[in-house]
Amino acid sequence: MKRPTLETLRRKKAAGEPIASMTAYDASFAAALERAGIDFILVGDSLGMVIQGRDSTLGVTVGDIAYHCRCVHAGAPRTLLVADLPFMSYATTAQALGNAARLLREGNAQMVKMEGGAWLADTVRALDERGIPVCGHLGLLPQSVHKLGGYRVQGRDEASAAALLEEARILEQAGARMLVLECVPAALAARVSGELSIPVIGIGAGARVDGQVLVLHDALGMNPSMPRFCRDFLTGAGGIEAAFRAYVAAVRERSFPAPGESFE
Ligand code: KIV
Repeated sequence: MKRPTLETLRRKKAAGEPIASMTAYDASFAAALERAGIDFILVGDSLGMVIQGRDSTLGVTVGDIAYHCRCVHAGAPRTLLVADLPFMSYATTAQALGNAARLLREGNAQMVKMEGGAWLADTVRALDERGIPVCGHLGLLPQSVHKLGGYRVQGRDEASAAALLEEARILEQAGARMLVLECVPAALAARVSGELSIPVIGIGAGARVDGQVLVLHDALGMNPSMPRFCRDFLTGAGGIEAAFRAYVAAVRERSFPAPGESFE
């Protein structure tokens, strides 16, 4: 079986079939996710917190992401792989081109993800024109935690919701092929998903988007301060692979996230 491509995700959105994604950082968990039927795996810079034990994602390097991409691809060679560009690795278009190329070449990634809005438009265009698909990331941007003053829900007032919607449009027009929305009110996320033709993947963004992504450790209930938008899929599942299957099923039937796991 060949690795799915972004076209597979685009078709799912067009058909109204929810996309299930999770982060992974090593071969064993990636293999279990592949067996469970996950649609794509994200090697997120969340690895700075859940693997390296840091208090933010800011210390993660491109080398770290490339290494974990190689591990994940070794375990899940038939799963679409998306790689995060970490903090300050895409501050200029030239940096983004070099670092993204490295993640595709060395890490076997098929797409890179970058946090930010309109300021990234030229970079998104440059990458896409050169054959590197980009996933945008709006809402709560963990790489900007010091500017945001903490990990908080974004887009709650009218002005910031309108700004987020506009940034999403700009990213799509610039060539972004997918968008992650993190910690935004469910109604705003639904609006973004409805207006964009690219898949919109939520985390803490309600169920009315085109798919969900969760940090692996959160989905296994390993976060001592489980955020409201996470669910422990392991307890009661009977094993890790069964937990992944339960997650994929819950996303596909839109029973995850429930209203109580979303923001207003
Ligand atoms: O780094 C990460 O794991 C992410 C997800 C939270 C979407 O960006």
